[in-house]
Amino acid sequence: MQPLRDSCVHGAHRRRTGPKKVFDRMKAIVHTAYGAPLDVLRLSERPIPTVSARKVLIRIRAASVNAGDWHLVRGVPRMVRLAFGLFRPKHDIIGSDCSGVVEAVGADVEGYSVGDEVFCDASLVGMGAFAEYIAVPVDVLCKKPRHISFEAAAALPGAGVTALQGLRDYGRLHAGHRVLINGASGGVGSHAVQIAVAMGAHVTAVCSTRNVDFVHGLGAHEVVDYTKTDITTLRSRFDVFFDGAAYRPFSALLHLVSDAGTYVFVGGGTATMVRAMTLGPLVSRAKGKRVVSFMARANAADLRELATLVERGALTSPIDRLYAFDHTAEAVAYVETNRARGRVVIDVMA
Ligand SMILES: NC(=O)c1ccc[n+]([C@@H]2O[C@H](COP(=O)([O-])OP(=O)(O)OC[C@H]3O[C@@H](n4cnc5c(N)ncnc54)[C@H](OP(=O)(O)O)[C@@H]3O)[C@@H](O)[C@H]2O)c1
Repeated sequence: MQPLRDSCVHGAHRRRTGPKKVFDRMKAIVHTAYGAPLDVLRLSERPIPTVSARKVLIRIRAASVNAGDWHLVRGVPRMVRLAFGLFRPKHDIIGSDCSGVVEAVGADVEGYSVGDEVFCDASLVGMGAFAEYIAVPVDVLCKKPRHISFEAAAALPGAGVTALQGLRDYGRLHAGHRVLINGASGGVGSHAVQIAVAMGAHVTAVCSTRNVDFVHGLGAHEVVDYTKTDITTLRSRFDVFFDGAAYRPFSALLHLVSDAGTYVFVGGGTATMVRAMTLGPLVSRAKGKRVVSFMARANAADLRELATLVERGALTSPIDRLYAFDHTAEAVAYVETNRARGRVVIDVMA
């Protein structure tokens, strides 16, 4: 497997001095209006977050970009604005996944000390990873596996937690099951393939021609090139269909799911998501095949489970591109193209 496809740090030619701490201010990528990433994401300054009793302050070394980030930057689909700000973004610093070094520890925090190397998923706690510092509760924090880089650790949490919860909790995947993973070359899919293999499942992965070797390298037992084979024509039946590229309604795919099997809507089009959320429970009751959709919820136990898989050598986070901090807008715009292979990471020190 090629862990880093594009080994240069995009934009890093400018300088490599590391950010400077000026009193209590930090550099951050902010957006105060909805719009295209290159139009609205700006390098600016904000106060360094304060550390409350149950939080840990992290000096961020690397962050990663999730598909959800560009949705938040644009405020689409419109319904995300109900939760994230009707007219303007509620959180001006986004970014959920990061890794770094503990700088300060709240009075009630146990198990972490200044200097610990950690990674976290701040998606449920106000985000803020596209910055030099973040303060997070320990419930979304984990010690970084020693042998991996900060970049690799930043690439792990959001995609890893989504893959793990989608397969284990919603798909109820077990050893010996047959699983179909659509969108296998993306951030979530590349983790799902490896986690499903580690769980002892037989993995059939779906991607385009240019990603076939990459997905085989992740451990998939069979790879279907969707540009050559329409997956609806597959003869196999699967105990779990993990759909990370759901651009077709689940009703057109349900025949691929075995009796008592599960279709898991992970991500894709807005219309297909609404269908899965509204009609899925009805169809599940009528047909016996479960149709579920979910929102991943980061927690310390699942982050530890991912770290254990990494330490066992069963999971790596393939990094497609690495961007310098002041090129974060380009990183988000690249993820928006829907063509990322694995994860897109920001070197906050570059
Ligand atoms: N439910 C949750 O809690 C949750 C959490 C995280 C993400 N998500 C959602 O899950 C989806 C996947 O996320 P991600 O981070 O993996 O996105 P991503 O990394 O941006 O996905 C890009 C990948 O998708 C592949 N792709 C694009 N169109 C495809 C198609 N028609 N069939 C198969 N593969 C296709 C691309 O490969 P090719 O170029 O080869 O087509 C590319 O490798 C997104 O919609 C995201 O919003 C949901």
